[in-house]
Amino acid sequence: MGSKYHWQSQNVKQSGVDDMVLLSKITEDAIVDNLKKRFMDDYIFTYIGSVLISVNPFKQMPYFTDREIELYQGAAQYENPPHIYALSDNMYRNMMIEVENQCVIISGESGAGKTVAAKYIMGYISKVSGGSSKVQHVKDIILQSNPLLEAFGNAKTVRNNNSSRFGKYFEIQFSRGGEPDGGKISNFLLEKSRVVSQNENERNFHIYYQLIEGASPQQKESLGIMTPDYYNYLNQSGTYKVDGTNDCKDFQETMEAMQVIGISPGCQIQVLQIIAGILHLGNIIFTEQGNYAQVDSTDLLAFPAYLLGIDANRLQEKLTSRKMDSKWGGKSESINVTLNEEQASHTRDALAKALYARLFDYLVEAINKAMQKPHEELSIGVLDIYGFEIFQKNGFEQFCINFVNEKLQQIFIELTLKAEQEEYVQEGIKWTPIEYFNNKVVCDLIETKLNPPGIMSVLDDVCATMHAKGEGADDTLLQKLSAAVGTHDHFNNWNSGFVIHHYAGKVSYDIIGFCERNRDVLFNDLIELMQSSEQDFIRSLFPENLNTEKKGRPSTASSKIKKQANDLVNTLMKCTPHYIRCIKPNETKRAKDWEESRVKHQVEYLGLRENIRVRRAGFAYRRVFNKFLQRYAILTAETWPCWRGQEKDGVLHLLRSVNMDSDQYQMGRAKIFVKNPESLFLLEEMRERKFDTFARIIQKAWKKYIARRKYEQMREEASDILYNFKERRRNSINRNFVGDYLGMEERPELRQFLAKRERIDFADSVNKFDRRFKSIKRDLILTPKCIYLIGREKMKKGPEKGQIKEVLKRKLDIGSIRLVSLSTRQDDFFILHEAQYDSLLESMFKTEFLSLLSKRYEELTRNKLALSFNDRLEFKVKKEGWGGGSSRLVVFLCGQGDMAQLKLGGKTLTVSVGNGLPKSSKPTRKGFSQGHGGRSQAHQQGHLNGAAQFSRGHNMSRPKEQMYSIPTRQTRPPTKALQIRGCQKTQRNQTQSQESSLDFLNVPDQGMSGMQRKKSISQQRAPPAPSSRPKPQPRPPGPRCRALYQYVGQDADEVSFEVNEIIDLVKEDPSGWWTGRVRGKEGLFPGNYVEKI
Ligand SMILES: Nc1ncnc2c1ncn2[C@@H]1O[C@H](COP(=O)(O)OP(=O)(O)OP(=O)(O)O)[C@@H](O)[C@H]1O
Ligand SMILES: [Mg+2]
Repeated sequence: MGSKYHWQSQNVKQSGVDDMVLLSKITEDAIVDNLKKRFMDDYIFTYIGSVLISVNPFKQMPYFTDREIELYQGAAQYENPPHIYALSDNMYRNMMIEVENQCVIISGESGAGKTVAAKYIMGYISKVSGGSSKVQHVKDIILQSNPLLEAFGNAKTVRNNNSSRFGKYFEIQFSRGGEPDGGKISNFLLEKSRVVSQNENERNFHIYYQLIEGASPQQKESLGIMTPDYYNYLNQSGTYKVDGTNDCKDFQETMEAMQVIGISPGCQIQVLQIIAGILHLGNIIFTEQGNYAQVDSTDLLAFPAYLLGIDANRLQEKLTSRKMDSKWGGKSESINVTLNEEQASHTRDALAKALYARLFDYLVEAINKAMQKPHEELSIGVLDIYGFEIFQKNGFEQFCINFVNEKLQQIFIELTLKAEQEEYVQEGIKWTPIEYFNNKVVCDLIETKLNPPGIMSVLDDVCATMHAKGEGADDTLLQKLSAAVGTHDHFNNWNSGFVIHHYAGKVSYDIIGFCERNRDVLFNDLIELMQSSEQDFIRSLFPENLNTEKKGRPSTASSKIKKQANDLVNTLMKCTPHYIRCIKPNETKRAKDWEESRVKHQVEYLGLRENIRVRRAGFAYRRVFNKFLQRYAILTAETWPCWRGQEKDGVLHLLRSVNMDSDQYQMGRAKIFVKNPESLFLLEEMRERKFDTFARIIQKAWKKYIARRKYEQMREEASDILYNFKERRRNSINRNFVGDYLGMEERPELRQFLAKRERIDFADSVNKFDRRFKSIKRDLILTPKCIYLIGREKMKKGPEKGQIKEVLKRKLDIGSIRLVSLSTRQDDFFILHEAQYDSLLESMFKTEFLSLLSKRYEELTRNKLALSFNDRLEFKVKKEGWGGGSSRLVVFLCGQGDMAQLKLGGKTLTVSVGNGLPKSSKPTRKGFSQGHGGRSQAHQQGHLNGAAQFSRGHNMSRPKEQMYSIPTRQTRPPTKALQIRGCQKTQRNQTQSQESSLDFLNVPDQGMSGMQRKKSISQQRAPPAPSSRPKPQPRPPGPRCRALYQYVGQDADEVSFEVNEIIDLVKEDPSGWWTGRVRGKEGLFPGNYVEKI
């Protein structure tokens, strides 16, 4: 096999096929081959559509770490190799999105890995869901319930060293927010016969060996703990140790689990006392004297009596005799009947089993109490039962266990094969029926009540008429079964019992004990005995009221399991089901051991071939039209908020709008059927992205609101800086602060000079004056630590020769600013003084800039930023090669109007400007929503120079250095920045008209600032003079597509585009994420947002 790799996950080798729907030949051999290939390559998981096949590796696989938990979270099934985490994630997300309860049915034979799978699911859910400390506590209980229930409910069998001897359905309950805040366990028929006898090479329940190995010396003494061979209930099989199991360590874990679950220390002791008490009970043996049983050694009565808190004599009496009701001539009388040795042993065992089973139920209840929540919301149910099993000798318990498995197979068939096919017929979908074996016939053989009565009914009838001692009942049963179902195809007689042809194979059941175990009554004598215990805890396990008359037939074990199984089916049918089919590759429990015939057998009886065939021809997803419409309404304007017209047409409209291939779906009568999950995921992804975009818009609006409030406050603070020092401009004193006037989010060419996540406090285009007082544009950026001045230059060499590029002209550490000087007049000049040379700048937003700068300066240096106000400002110019740096002077004079007039004279620049508002002016509170004055006029009046006007050069000729404006890479301005500008503009226009009636201070001084400034991003990108326009880059030849929808890239490696924009197609990926080039940027985008041209 060549080394192929998974097409999406890195470094994951491809082995066979991930999803057996893709097998080229659908035969059982091909399935087995594929599973084997993968198993040998250490891939235990494989899909058949949404069904997960899991092959027990019998070794720890490396792919169950936090890394995988992260990898599978929120990922589509096809994105990663098959995994139980993918299934778990799918359930969790389904539950949250659809607000529907989910369940997972884990099936497979004993030792196939069901319990391990269930634990992985619980672990995953607990990891990915959030939660408060209360939720954390519930999670702890969910996780800790496993070691506790395994200690009391699991045992070593020949098939599995940790075989579940009970079934459980664990519902993890969630809040609407997806936090696991509760839970409920339903347990099924514990195999309690194990308490008193075990087959060869098997053990009793783990807890016994744990207690013996792990108890402290003091506990050992008080509980009478000896070595295991001392106890009759442990020494029959001669097996005490299990490979790979540390009973002593497990004991500590069990005790810890009890602690977490909230079982009080007192109750914990009682639990252990019962366990030890049962062991000692088993050592009471009987001898027969004249047909009457006698306790062989009465000494042995003392310890169990002590541990169970009962009287030893009473115990002896109840074990060897029984009260019987007899009727004589219409009178009912109670007489004491003595028991023979067999009956006494049976009574002892009945007591031991009852104690154990009730203790087990108590533990389940304790866990349930600890996880209980007042009302149920959402849930994920995990079904982990005992697997189908065949032993040398199969008794009543195996019959029940296999019956439950038969029922589960039935659900699987009902939901995946039968219901699916019936639905296609009902909906009028084109379909070729697939044949499969429906095991309903076996379920009926076991559980039907009448015509003919099934095995369980016959069994109950025999038990109802059975003599109290039950002799000969089993033989009667066999005869009656023969008469009732003897001719059934799935039933045979056999000399010691009967054979059932189960879905998973033929099993011969030994008839001995069927009636007794089915009757499952605990004689009143024993209940009374336990109710006489001096221990509250034990008494609470026997709450029956013996004084009330019992009516009707006592319920039997088989009727109980039948009811439980059917209740379970009903519960499961109410949820969205998921399936894990576990396969056991060998009986040696060794890694990499593949027993072909065993696997093939399982593949056959699990119906995997039929499963693949139905899946292959079938549809992964179906939804009634209106639910589908509701779910994806957001995708198009026509469907949002609701579609006007026929639902079916709406669905078709949606499907077309996402360009779904017509072979990917079929329209039924009331439902849409989508073939592959991938197609659905595209829809889902688009939906999520839409929501995400809306969320961003809301978030942005909110941020803007918060920012505005902040800036209002800042504006007032900023004013304080100039208060009493500088005259203010009428049209800007009430201006709101925006901070970023350049739309930096969309300006990678500027951002490149900043550190990766450097925050931007302020960004604007300013005028910078050189030694000859020539003005030039610079982008001034203030971050918490630095000031950047960015200019543009024509590249003189290199591949970008001739192009205009951004260049970092100056970077100043804020801490290195010695002083900022300003005039006392209303102009916009300021000088940043630094050790080497100073920068003379002019900015309309100087107040905002200075206020932010002084804040940052103070944060960094813990000193106040030095500001000086003078009408004669000196500034040091940069040292040039041939001479030392000299200084220049700027003189401010009283002139006319609000616009500064500049006059150049050698080393002095004279700035004249009319009088502004008094130095003691403050912003008025009413001006909150006012736009930033000045810029609007610049906007309205077209693209003016933007630099201050020189009196000698007011012909608006453009200085040469300004020919930089259009970045060659971009053909259109970033939409976001435009949006910002756009909304500021409308906002301003609205407020202007409002405010004219409010306060003269708020009325912008029309036309002035606009004459001086050119700041908007659109102006920066105004077309340059033809001579300097770079030649258009040739379009790379190749396929192209047109955007059907706007797409806003969500990640650094994605591109954004507008509707109708043309994209050069670089690569089409089957994942749906294509690569393309837009406006010079290459990146990923969803393929279904575009159409190829
Ligand atoms: N995914 C797995 N990774 C490693 N070992 C596993 C895995 N699944 C199962 N095993 C091994 O197989 C043993 C049996 O698995 P498990 O107890 O889950 O079987 P089961 O299907 O629950 O059987 P039963 O019906 O008897 O309860 C485990 O104790 C473990 O040693
Ligand atoms: Mg199990």
